[in-house]
Amino acid sequence: MINADTKVYGIIGNPIRHSLSPQLHSEMFKAYGINAIYTAFETKDIKSAIDGIRALDIKGVNVTVPYKEDVVQLVDKVDKQAMILKAINTIKNENGYLIGYNTDYLGFMYLLKKNMKENYISKRIAVLGAGGAAKSIIFALSKLNVNSVFLLNRTRENALKTEEIFKNLIEIEVSDLNDKDVISSSDIIINCTSVGLKEGQIPIDINYVDKAVIIDIIYKDSLLIKRARSKNLRAINGMDMFVGQALYSFELFSGIKFDMNLAYKVLGDNKR
Ligand code: ATR
Repeated sequence: MINADTKVYGIIGNPIRHSLSPQLHSEMFKAYGINAIYTAFETKDIKSAIDGIRALDIKGVNVTVPYKEDVVQLVDKVDKQAMILKAINTIKNENGYLIGYNTDYLGFMYLLKKNMKENYISKRIAVLGAGGAAKSIIFALSKLNVNSVFLLNRTRENALKTEEIFKNLIEIEVSDLNDKDVISSSDIIINCTSVGLKEGQIPIDINYVDKAVIIDIIYKDSLLIKRARSKNLRAINGMDMFVGQALYSFELFSGIKFDMNLAYKVLGDNKR
């Protein structure tokens, strides 16, 4: 029941209408008997939105595209891992004091744990893209003791900047997005570009892929995932990363780790 004690949570981004987070978090609050709601806040003004969290005592939010980097300057404290990534996807409001965290990389670690039973530490891993999403994935790989990755990006300069950020954590070899040799010799290819968010777009020529497991962090099956499957390659979409990051955000909000099976049940048809 919603009443005057109901705590408010939400996700801030633009656009935000496609987000599955309100559905997932709201159902989890209900399942665990927490008097809270979680909704979507679409804004063009992130500074006012963050002030609004304080003014209205909103208890916590997730932050998504395009504001993950902007909010680093707007919260009161940034967790150590989020500071390395210079990106925040979760804000917790502790009596008006806003603390920013990043659970995206934890979500990707969960995806790997769930899907990659084989040892991948010394495999040839290619990361496509060098933006915020790619940074979370590279960070997760470094945490999992992967020593080196290939970083394939459209704009070489952006890839070199990302390489610089991680120079003490993981070895990065920068190359072009469509480097045929790297793509054909890779064991794992992870798409972290935004190509594929729009239907019908694909970041690389699938004919170059020889044997790689394809991972796309987009949670619906992208064209890359579909093409990989039709080539009989193993292909993993980003749904497990999405549910994984939500798990850790929810834990920050409520102190509870939700039941993963329940989460997948709640998301139902959105899974594929
Ligand atoms: P996100 O937070 O989703 O990572 P981002 O930081 O804007 O978003 O990064 C987007 C990534 O997708 C970048 O690696 C970008 O490549 P550039 O560095 O060359 O901009 C990549 N990307 C976006 N549109 C692309 C396109 N049409 N073709 C190839 N790469 C693209």
